[in-house]
Amino acid sequence: MTIHIGAKPGQIADTVLLPGDPYRAKWAAETFLNDVELVNEVRGMLGFTGLWNGKRVTIQGSGMGMPSLSIYANELIRDYDAKTLIRIGSCGGMQEQVAVRDIILAMTASTLTTPSRGIFKELSYAPCADWSLLRAAVGAAERRDTRIHVGGIYSSDVFYDERPDLNEQMVRHGILGVEMEAAELYTLAARYGRRALAVLTVSDHLLTGEALPSDQRETSFGDMVEIALEAAFS
Ligand code: HPA
Repeated sequence: MTIHIGAKPGQIADTVLLPGDPYRAKWAAETFLNDVELVNEVRGMLGFTGLWNGKRVTIQGSGMGMPSLSIYANELIRDYDAKTLIRIGSCGGMQEQVAVRDIILAMTASTLTTPSRGIFKELSYAPCADWSLLRAAVGAAERRDTRIHVGGIYSSDVFYDERPDLNEQMVRHGILGVEMEAAELYTLAARYGRRALAVLTVSDHLLTGEALPSDQRETSFGDMVEIALEAAFS
């Protein structure tokens, strides 16, 4: 047990999928895993361990934003020795060629700041995905005929943005989408020598204002979970 995760030693798998929403963790575990066991419910941040094609996987909610994700990722890595951590979440599209329902594989994650910012001082560290996972996720997406984009994303600190100029610069520099967690996940994985990737479904679009209707969310999110699982075990 850690401060924020109630799982006993051995109850967390080497491979962990991290949706922000604890109820999406429940849905994904019930939909894609067998022999599912609830391993965490501290603060309602549900975590489940089960089997996917005979392989052990944990799906643990991370909450919204980098400070929350940082707590769960630190404890999963440092206390439970998680080896592969894949964020599965939603993002806002930032380029015209990126459509709602498309999937973005985040090669890099730009930020204004992260919970790790303090240790870099004047450096601008460039958080990036694990190459083996990224390559495997591209292969998994191509086999499924899913529309994907691979490139940079923006991990923002705010959903309700008072600085439109920041988004404008990200759009201008080819950033594909905006979310709020990946950069800290990539930074922690690099620090501890683990593998990390963010597989993101475009749920809304900053340029067009379009948003995925709630009844269509599940199928799009299902593709994302399957791509993440296939990538983890390729
Ligand atoms: N901003 C930040 N995070 C998000 C967004 C967004 O527009 N959409 C989904 N996650």
